[in-house]
Amino acid sequence: MSKYFDPQERAQELRDFKDFLAPLKGKAGQLMQALHHAQDTYGFIPPEIQELISTELKIPMAEVYGVITFYSRFTEIPKGKTQISVCMGTACYVKGAVKVLEEIQMVTGVKAGHTSEDGRVSVFTTRCLGACSMAPVMTVGHEVHGRLLPKDVIELLKHLKYDEQAKLEAEAFLAGEGK
Ligand code: FES
Repeated sequence: MSKYFDPQERAQELRDFKDFLAPLKGKAGQLMQALHHAQDTYGFIPPEIQELISTELKIPMAEVYGVITFYSRFTEIPKGKTQISVCMGTACYVKGAVKVLEEIQMVTGVKAGHTSEDGRVSVFTTRCLGACSMAPVMTVGHEVHGRLLPKDVIELLKHLKYDEQAKLEAEAFLAGEGK
């Protein structure tokens, strides 16, 4: 069960979604229509909704999951208020994107592919953002930041709530005692 979605609490929503799916059965483009509706309704597509789509529309789970993970519009977790994406395309990877991502995870306390418990921030990895000459690249909301070094991350993300350990490390870093 997804920690972001309690089927018991949201039983009515699940029934409504099932009603939405009923007339789609056997129609062309049914999967995309169902996924767009789910994303718009819930803000994300948890496993419970994926299973419902798979069962009701008789589409294998692997196909449902494959489409969700292929299109960046769809997400399996609710997106936080601030969304951070680190490019893991080849140019960014070669120029140190992994270190940048590690630093983001440390500063925010949020692992890639997750949202913080308080809903403030989500961290994602993404494919090439088309700004390879600026590698490594990350986006914070709609802002694009390039030629990043891990130490830039603290400055860029200092407006976000840190977990306690990350905050101490960030403060030490900014005071010149860090890396
Ligand atoms: S590989 Fe990262 S922007 Fe192209």
